[in-house]
Amino acid sequence: HEIMKGSFPHFMKKEIFEQPESIKQTMRGRILNGSEVHLTGVREHMSDIRKSTRLIFVASGTSYNACMASRQILEELSEIPVIVELAGDFMDRLCPIFRSDVVAFVSQSGETADTLDALKYARKHGAMCMGIVNVVGSSISRLTDFGVHLNAGSEIGVASTKVYTSQIVVMVMIALELSADSKNKSARRIAILQGLRELSANIEKTILLVDEHVQRIADQLADDRSILCFGRGYHYATCVEAALKIKEVAYIHTEGINAGELKHGPIALVDENLPIVVFSSMDLTAVKVQSAIHQLLARGVRQRLIVVCSESDTQMLELVASREGVDVIKVAHTVDCLQSVLSIIPMQLLSYYLAVARKLNVDCPRNLAKSVTVH
Ligand code: G6P
Repeated sequence: HEIMKGSFPHFMKKEIFEQPESIKQTMRGRILNGSEVHLTGVREHMSDIRKSTRLIFVASGTSYNACMASRQILEELSEIPVIVELAGDFMDRLCPIFRSDVVAFVSQSGETADTLDALKYARKHGAMCMGIVNVVGSSISRLTDFGVHLNAGSEIGVASTKVYTSQIVVMVMIALELSADSKNKSARRIAILQGLRELSANIEKTILLVDEHVQRIADQLADDRSILCFGRGYHYATCVEAALKIKEVAYIHTEGINAGELKHGPIALVDENLPIVVFSSMDLTAVKVQSAIHQLLARGVRQRLIVVCSESDTQMLELVASREGVDVIKVAHTVDCLQSVLSIIPMQLLSYYLAVARKLNVDCPRNLAKSVTVH
């Protein structure tokens, strides 16, 4: 392992910095002439998928968050209802499954016991099962009817980073594949394909933009006991995944909360001392996120407010420019459904630098296993 880390002090940092390359591997051979997605397994089962009444995505941990990050584009492009389920909860409810369902199992290891149980259950109920798995030959990849490998390369750090972004890329490609015949979506599809082509360069640019800045922020937050992260729309998943990363490696209580829920309870926690991270989006949620920021500022959050936005997000940049003390982390800009790939990067780095500042074992956090194969 020592050799494989190369010049990086930890696997987690290496894997974060590897993302310009890992997402390229994920797309390799799957985008033809830069203008057409080709996922063999999905294509072979296309007519059955198109006939299905529901697409259900089942996963645990970070893999679940990747499903949440991709739900909106899958719904938009497939026009099939998309349901995202935590594997454990799916089995607690013995969720009704029909032969007309396509159920996708998303997993880095392909061995997570909760997800594997859900797969066996869905098979028993006659659903068509798809695997979206990183480890080739793993149980989930063997027991599914077809699938898409993530090809992100082996991930050693217990906290998943590069596989999260590859999972989003694969699910966006699946959404493109499922809408390949749809004429009225062609402009939208072209914009997303363009985003995929530029994604590697944009990840690289984002890492350069944020790395030192985030290290400074980590030093400021290292002794905090609690952090809140807010996002909505595409960035709901980002704030939840950001919170999971910080919990996992830095052991700081962090909650990812839908910004729409702020007024329904969480605002009671807000004071001038609690650090808060807000993810801004440039879609129809933009105005709503801006209003959440106004509410936070009105409650005295200032020195402790961190906004993550695209460098092209002029509305957000103007809003915070006049507010002294608000810290803005700018990431590269891309199409809405891929923005979460870029916005999670400063938070992967933040969790990493927080763990380093707190002198914790970044690659092997206490009480966690890379793959939970028992109940
Ligand atoms: C464990 C790991 C998490 C991971 C989850 C799902 O809890 O600690 O980092 O996200 O399992 O793993 P999978 O291999 O199914 O993606």
